[in-house]
Amino acid sequence: MSCFLGLDLGTSAIKAVIVDDAETLLAAAEVKLSVHAPCPLASEQDPRDWWRAVELALDRLGAEAPGAMARVVAIGLSGQMHAAVLLDAADLPVRPAMLWNDGRAHAEAADLKRLGSELAAELGVPALAGFTAPKLLWLARHEPASLARARSLLLPKDYIRLQLTGERATDPSDAAGTWLLDEARRVWSARAIAAVAIDPALLPPIIEGSAPAGRLRAGVAARFGLPPGIVVACGGGDTMTGGVGIGAVEDGRAFVGLSTSAQLFVAAAAHRPAPERLVHAFCHAVPGRWCQMAAMLNGAGVLAAIAHLLGDADIPALLAEVEARFTGPGRLLVLPYLSGERTPHDDPHARGVVFGLTPDTARVELVQAALEGVAFSLADARAALSAAGTVIDSAGIVGGGARSLFWTRLIASVLGIELRVYAGGARGPAFGAARLGRLAAGGDPATVLAEPPVLRVVPPDPALTDAYAPRIAAFRRLYAALRPEFARGAA
Ligand code: XUL
Repeated sequence: MSCFLGLDLGTSAIKAVIVDDAETLLAAAEVKLSVHAPCPLASEQDPRDWWRAVELALDRLGAEAPGAMARVVAIGLSGQMHAAVLLDAADLPVRPAMLWNDGRAHAEAADLKRLGSELAAELGVPALAGFTAPKLLWLARHEPASLARARSLLLPKDYIRLQLTGERATDPSDAAGTWLLDEARRVWSARAIAAVAIDPALLPPIIEGSAPAGRLRAGVAARFGLPPGIVVACGGGDTMTGGVGIGAVEDGRAFVGLSTSAQLFVAAAAHRPAPERLVHAFCHAVPGRWCQMAAMLNGAGVLAAIAHLLGDADIPALLAEVEARFTGPGRLLVLPYLSGERTPHDDPHARGVVFGLTPDTARVELVQAALEGVAFSLADARAALSAAGTVIDSAGIVGGGARSLFWTRLIASVLGIELRVYAGGARGPAFGAARLGRLAAGGDPATVLAEPPVLRVVPPDPALTDAYAPRIAAFRRLYAALRPEFARGAA
């Protein structure tokens, strides 16, 4: 029996799984990560903390399943996208990585947007504040010394591969999120590189996500009880790798990603840009495939933030409380834009809002409204994709948020579409990473990329879909009314 190790570098945790060739889960580990915000709009992590968390996760896997560790034949990677991981000549980070939800580079993104819609189409979407390229411009303006010390640029999961193998590379799905990739041709874009005025030597080679991108160093292998020299796949951006995990690779296959952030993702057989809708038309993590993705910055992270506000309340207990009291749409409205928003607003200054508090508001209402607010933003995502010509009438659901059947039902009803839940879907990107490892070890794509067994199909409740329609309209009006206020707040 061969085993495959999948590592997903999320924002809130590192998730690691070992599966066998029947995709049975043999061991899993999760190590929490924290995010630092040293100033307004900032969101940072130290890449060295990522690697320490990976080490801890591998230690735990080794303690839980030493036999499975010894039989691992390939490793695959998945990671949060868009961060700028800049390394010096000794491969040390020149500064903490600015993450996907870091909004500081908004003025630089606006400058890049002015370069026009033709370039935006080549790069898949207009430049948005969280992307890597605007961050490079921001660093050139605000921290030129950091940029001057940088000898290479990687994406988060690539930093992990560098530690595992010593090799530098990235894949088209993660490269897509830099705003430096010619998406149709899957090569670095000379026009984008010129626009950001960076030295092209900073950029790593691009290797497909399912292709080998190095071999496990003997020292790392010995430290964790893994076989030395096993293949490490290039890996992919977390949303795309989540798609790989549930076999969403054929044209039109859609899913909701509900981790710290949220996405509505559709696989595509070609590059289909729709820049005016802020749909991200990026490369998929497997060769010859692309995607269209509505990317929202606020998913299950909103629930985590509310639980934290409520005195670090237990999330499953909060969800059970909401479910027990649920009779239909609540009275409060929550705008979930804690980290600003990308699709459909391109508004790094947007913030979370609770609207409609009364003297008798109960905490359970606040939690329900947070779940609804995220669901409403997914309705906006579906509308953005529809306006771009991509109509979604059923989808899978993956990511930590998919653990809650109640939230899944709520989202299905708000969207008015059925959602497919998979065993292990909550760890979707880690499973997808293991699949990329398996492909890099010679696995047959027709087998490896199959849709896993569906645990349950969650249909929408038509009465709830009707009841939610006016609430979605009110949600949209509330954002529209507040948008100028968000901008004023920023100024
Ligand atoms: C996608 C995106 C998120 C991050 C963090 O555009 O920003 O999926 O990759 O998970």
